[in-house]
Amino acid sequence: MPVRKNVSEQEFLVGRRVFLRPFSEDDLSYVQKWSNDSKIRRLTGEIAPMSRQEAEEFYKHLRADKDRVWFAVVLKRGNRVIGEVGLLRMFRPWRCTDMSIIIGEKNTWGKGYGTEAGRLLLKYAFEQLKFHRVSIGVVGFNDRAIRFWKSLGFKKEGVQKDGYYCDNEFSDFVMMSILEDQFKRLYREKRPLKPAGYGR
Ligand SMILES: CC(C)(COP(=O)(O)OP(=O)(O)OC[C@H]1O[C@@H](n2cnc3c(N)ncnc32)[C@H](O)[C@@H]1OP(=O)(O)O)[C@@H](O)C(=O)NCCC(=O)NCCS
Repeated sequence: MPVRKNVSEQEFLVGRRVFLRPFSEDDLSYVQKWSNDSKIRRLTGEIAPMSRQEAEEFYKHLRADKDRVWFAVVLKRGNRVIGEVGLLRMFRPWRCTDMSIIIGEKNTWGKGYGTEAGRLLLKYAFEQLKFHRVSIGVVGFNDRAIRFWKSLGFKKEGVQKDGYYCDNEFSDFVMMSILEDQFKRLYREKRPLKPAGYGR
């Protein structure tokens, strides 16, 4: 069991209830569990099962990929790992990146942890890495995630009709993004994250 001191030394981005720390090999058992979870797979588009060996391959790939930063989402209380969040396909010349989040421990959903982790990562992406645009793609029937991204300040940009196929059914794939200036308006002026006019 890691002692608190060691864990806190790895805190990279710190919020009120969660912190983000560099993703490590020790987190692979969580990723393996979440990747194989049928409910999460359906929402995120993971197709293949993940063995321990494949999890290790993923980690190797992660470490070699210079266009990605990846974090474990950890609850301060009890140092409990509840998810993973990161930037991927970072394209610095255009100051654009994609983002991903999975709060894999389902009994922690709906408690604001995803929002806190998302805000920490966005702040890092815009203020430290100086990205101009952060984008995501969401499975059309993942209502929780669409509401989550909207509450973080993302706006819908378009829909890939039938862009997702799962369980013998096509669904739309929703493209969303947040730009630097939108982020600044929402977060610097300390306005509520859900701007007026956002529908659910
Ligand atoms: C989507 C996800 C990251 C949200 O994290 P979370 O910690 O559960 O979300 P939060 O508690 O911070 O809630 C943020 C917003 O999400 C929406 N939300 C949360 N729980 C919800 C629920 N049960 N039903 C509908 N919307 C919900 C709300 O808009 C909420 O804002 P509000 O509190 O003002 O109502 C998380 O549920 C998850 O990882 N799901 C599985 C993987 C996934 O879908 N990842 C995203 C792929 S694009």
